[in-house]
Amino acid sequence: MTENQPGWGGDLGFDTTVAHNARVWNYWLGGRDNFPADREVGEQVRQMFPGIVDVARADRAFLGRAVRYLAGEAGIRQFLDIGTGLPTADNTHEVAQRIAPDSRIVYVDNDPLVLVHARALLVGIPEGATDYIDADAHDPGSILRAAAETLDFAKPTAIMFLGSLNFILDTDTAVAVVDHLIDHVPSGSYLVVAHPTHELGGEANAASMRHWNEHATPPITPRSRDEVARFFHGLELLEPGIVSCSRWRPDSASAGGLPPEVPQFGAVARKL
Ligand SMILES: C[S@@+](CC[C@H](N)C(=O)[O-])C[C@H]1O[C@@H](n2cnc3c(N)ncnc32)[C@H](O)[C@@H]1O
Repeated sequence: MTENQPGWGGDLGFDTTVAHNARVWNYWLGGRDNFPADREVGEQVRQMFPGIVDVARADRAFLGRAVRYLAGEAGIRQFLDIGTGLPTADNTHEVAQRIAPDSRIVYVDNDPLVLVHARALLVGIPEGATDYIDADAHDPGSILRAAAETLDFAKPTAIMFLGSLNFILDTDTAVAVVDHLIDHVPSGSYLVVAHPTHELGGEANAASMRHWNEHATPPITPRSRDEVARFFHGLELLEPGIVSCSRWRPDSASAGGLPPEVPQFGAVARKL
């Protein structure tokens, strides 16, 4: 069976005819780990809301700046990255281990293609450690149990949800997942979130998300700033707070000042 034929993905063992978020995200980032159904929906969304490519790029750049800060200035050596995505340039372990080679990273995703690639590609350097867990973000208990084989949860840990809490559709449930994880890490740990929002995106962005939910999987929900703020309750939000992720400590401001906003909040907070 070739990738152009409908049906199950041969040796991969999953259905490639339904667009899936990890593979469409890869398409928007210019990657090649995607199938015709992913490209079709990815292109439809891009036609409806061309800014989606800027969102994906800004999210990855935010990941880089947040991890550089955490591994550098904040001295963090453990990272639990939930909703990893397909391997691309500057994955969390590469950014962290460039600064602190002894960094230990555990990736979590539930996409079968991420699983296939991650085991092969998300390989760290000998001074540190990199592991991959095939698990669902709705189940933080299982994630903690598996991650404890690589991470020592008595030590400060960065818990990262970049573009993934938006797949836990009920906000109370998503807050409970974050709380569960934060309760199991010590003071001096961090929470990093990137999350889509209609507040910055306008009607085209909203329509493209509705289109996504009708034609692809898993379904997504955007959140308001107040809803995103709930993930950080009891934590100390770092400056500049909850902002468009493109404006979270940008490397260089454009001529007119801050970079353009994208409809994706980004924020980092510390557990006191
Ligand atoms: C938009 S991508 C973001 C990837 C990466 N974190 C980034 O910022 O570039 C979201 C990822 O979350 C994963 N994901 C979605 N729902 C999930 C769930 N319930 N449990 C674990 N991972 C999930 C998808 O498979 C996808 O790889």
